[in-house]
Amino acid sequence: MSDLQKRFQDIIAPVIEFDYPVEIIDGKGSWVTGADGRQYLDFTCGIATSNMGHRPDAVVAAAQNQLNRLWHAGGSYLYDSIVDAAEKIVDVAPDGIEKVLFMNSGAEAVEASVKLARKVSGRQGIITFRGGFHGRTMGSVTYTTSRAKYRQGYHPLLPSTFVTPFPHPYGWGMTQEDANAYALRELEFKFKFEVTPGEIAAFLLEPMQGEGGYYPASSEFIHALRAIADEHGILLIADEVQSGFGRTGDWFTSQVYDVRPDILVMGKAIANGLPLSAVGASAELFDKWPVGSHGTTFGGNPVSCAACAANVDALRDFVPGVNRLSGYAFSRWAEIKEQRHTIGDVRGLGLMIGIELVKEGNEPDTEAFAAIGRHALDAGMFILNCGPDGNVIRFIPPLNVSQDDLDRGIDILADAIEAYEG
Ligand SMILES: Cc1ncc(COP(=O)(O)O)c(C=O)c1O
Repeated sequence: MSDLQKRFQDIIAPVIEFDYPVEIIDGKGSWVTGADGRQYLDFTCGIATSNMGHRPDAVVAAAQNQLNRLWHAGGSYLYDSIVDAAEKIVDVAPDGIEKVLFMNSGAEAVEASVKLARKVSGRQGIITFRGGFHGRTMGSVTYTTSRAKYRQGYHPLLPSTFVTPFPHPYGWGMTQEDANAYALRELEFKFKFEVTPGEIAAFLLEPMQGEGGYYPASSEFIHALRAIADEHGILLIADEVQSGFGRTGDWFTSQVYDVRPDILVMGKAIANGLPLSAVGASAELFDKWPVGSHGTTFGGNPVSCAACAANVDALRDFVPGVNRLSGYAFSRWAEIKEQRHTIGDVRGLGLMIGIELVKEGNEPDTEAFAAIGRHALDAGMFILNCGPDGNVIRFIPPLNVSQDDLDRGIDILADAIEAYEG
């Protein structure tokens, strides 16, 4: 154990899990450098956050410039970077997103979106979708059902929250069409047996489920939800904390599906790693939220907002290229899948690709990820998993990854899977 590991263990609350006990001292682009001087290919992207890789020049310059001028305002007075960031976001966000509220973390933005929905609709019920991850605070963990362990020991959670299935075609052994039909039928039953639609303020869902196993909603399912929401005056909250800012092939997955969210929740890649999150909605909706009924000390921090504005501009050069890289990565993974029985499914959108590792009978193979993660580390690469069984590789390179590094990452993982199969 290194000296830092020992100090870490002695002083940091062990509830926080770190995936790799490796000391990193520097990061640039798709690469980070260890304290021992070793270079590692970083395909964790800080959990789908550094979409522009580590320390992109323009974002660093904007943050440094702001740091030298004003770094905190606490909602006491105006400053330019918060307006700059909001304007940039609205420019790339789905149609109908006209104003922005800045918060600090994804969980906090999720909670703000639910408070907004409840306050303006006068309704209390929230419908969430099984497998969704929306954060760890008491409110957001109520909506999180990607793994039971995230909720274990924290009950009672918030009342008037109803959980309904999200289509998981591979997990259920169904076609996408059948999975959509099943999920929609269950929603119909929810309204018939448990709660009337008129009591529901919002549907809260990830258009592309992240922690739950990298399942895209499918156009058919999300458009069906939009229609049901319109029929009953329910607001559609799209939690795009993980799937936003170019990750899935357009600025937001809602645009990939050409569906209009009433409320858009953003975080993670919004400022490429500086702490910031946001809620977007129409002016009409936000203007119904009484002044002072929500607030924050750190939300919309000047430095994070300056980084956000520069980050959106920097991403403009790369978002249009995501689908080409995605097509290439999917075709390579399809070839590898042909040769490796451990790969049960390859799915996703853009550069948010899940590779599901299975045993015989398509049973989740949790061990496989552990072995592949170790192999990748030995080969100089960091990678994350997801899914309730931890058996889905998250393939999330930075969006500005070079072709060579993309191939290198795929090669390392393909070798690791081959080695696991023996
Ligand atoms: C879709 C989604 N929503 C919300 C969150 C919570 O974000 P944070 O960890 O910043 O609170 C996450 C984090 O992984 C997420 O993926």
